[in-house]
Amino acid sequence: MIQEKRIIYEHLDVPDIYTFDVFRQHGGYQRFEKALKELQPEEISDMVLQSGLKGRGGAGFSTGLKWSFVPRDIEPRYLCCNADESEPGTFSNRYILERIPHLLVEGILISCYALDIHSCYVYIRGEFTLGKKMLDQAIEDAYNHSYLGENILDSGFNLDIYAHPGAGAYICGEETGLIESLEGKRGQPRVKPPFPAVSGVFSKPTVVNNVETLCNIPFIIDKGIEWYTNMGVTYGDARFDPPKPDQNTGTKLYCVSGDVENPGVYELELGLTCSELIDVAGGVKGDRIKAVIPGGSSAPILTDYELDTRMDFTSLTLAKTMLGSGGVIVLNETRSIVDSLLNIMEFYAHETCGQCTPCRNGTPWVRDIVKRIANGDGRQTKIKRPRFGITESGRWGDTGEMEEVYEDLELLESVANNIANVDTMTWDTICVFGIAVSWPAVSYLRKFRPEFEACVRDGKCTVLPVDEATVTPEENYAYQQRIIPQII
Ligand SMILES: Cc1cc2nc3c(=O)[nH]c(=O)nc-3n(C[C@H](O)[C@H](O)[C@H](O)COP(=O)(O)O)c2cc1C
Ligand code: SF4
Repeated sequence: MIQEKRIIYEHLDVPDIYTFDVFRQHGGYQRFEKALKELQPEEISDMVLQSGLKGRGGAGFSTGLKWSFVPRDIEPRYLCCNADESEPGTFSNRYILERIPHLLVEGILISCYALDIHSCYVYIRGEFTLGKKMLDQAIEDAYNHSYLGENILDSGFNLDIYAHPGAGAYICGEETGLIESLEGKRGQPRVKPPFPAVSGVFSKPTVVNNVETLCNIPFIIDKGIEWYTNMGVTYGDARFDPPKPDQNTGTKLYCVSGDVENPGVYELELGLTCSELIDVAGGVKGDRIKAVIPGGSSAPILTDYELDTRMDFTSLTLAKTMLGSGGVIVLNETRSIVDSLLNIMEFYAHETCGQCTPCRNGTPWVRDIVKRIANGDGRQTKIKRPRFGITESGRWGDTGEMEEVYEDLELLESVANNIANVDTMTWDTICVFGIAVSWPAVSYLRKFRPEFEACVRDGKCTVLPVDEATVTPEENYAYQQRIIPQII
């Protein structure tokens, strides 16, 4: 049985760990002192790069590389901690803020020292009232003990941290929407480039990092690169000769919810399989798993025969889905895939910021089509289209035949794929919210097409047994062949 590997959460349950004194008794702030006294800023940045730490906020981008993009000759520079945590199914940052907020303060201190930054904004989800209160107290304690403010511990290093509450918009978790909101404007994403590392808060170089990402830093400093890289898995990227190391190092806070016996946050090394993770969470509640959402509501779904996929950035990307926020939602056989998709689409239709036409108009359109199907009002008219499928070569392609499909299923795929095309991974929207809509819509439809068809045919929300609801592994594989994997 796989065991939890608690690093960030190691002291989460220690009584009063939210206080400065208890946090310090458990090694708190000593990693920062070590960094300040023994390491040059560049050495810390290099350690973070070597550690292979990838951002835990969703995109999985190398933290060290992101830090390296920040121009050192432009003042001021900012660190922005993304504590918005609005992705459905995700709730790990929240426990850090509420229960061990000093760890985040320490992670911010070391990061700012490494980047020679003197102001940090923590953009915190508006609904996290307790988290904000605990973080405010931790910041105040840190000021009172000379760990924040001017001339910290007589080192000459200055840092101020400001906790800024959001107002409840999902899109303010997107880094540039966050920055707009922080600046007092409407939280609408900016066109990139320029990326925040070059032009972020108040048009100044800004590093945006997630809470969990920053909480890894003290441990990398304390225990070193070798210790960190021994956790997780490192693959060889065969596109390079010799294969380039593709690191999935460290632990991940997996938020497991839905139909499992013991929902909660589990800290485990990267690289275990989805089945193993579900076992750690007590196993499926009910007889059988129907599907698993591996990385928050934006992630393409996994079928029951894909559960041996490893839960790391690389493996999930190659499986044409993503680790995303680490929000793992388990659906058992009693769940309707159509109804689950409707639930997600209601959310996205509410949260689109409205700047781009495909997203503003397409997202409610997708929601309305799914709603019709779930309500048993899916259009029964059949239309003819070229039949794509497994060709004689064994690959996905045009079979040269025609097939009849339900109008609404064709429309659903077409509208979703026109917000962002999941096969070519291209879109004409300002931010990737569009793909966050198309990905689940297209993947649920393609992988659970029999259940969608049954709903249209039966004129009601039919729930099929797992084997009948899902396309065959061969068809699934062929669908996946169409999709160009993201560049990692
Ligand atoms: C629609 C949308 C919502 C997002 N929400 C969050 C969020 O709540 N928290 C977060 O850390 N990152 C979120 N992100 C990712 C951020 O844009 C950004 O990549 C991340 O904060 C960078 O931190 P990292 O490098 O430490 O992962 C979101 C992205 C998108 C497109
Ligand atoms: S893709 Fe959607 S959420 Fe993103 S900027 Fe455009 S309208 Fe707003």
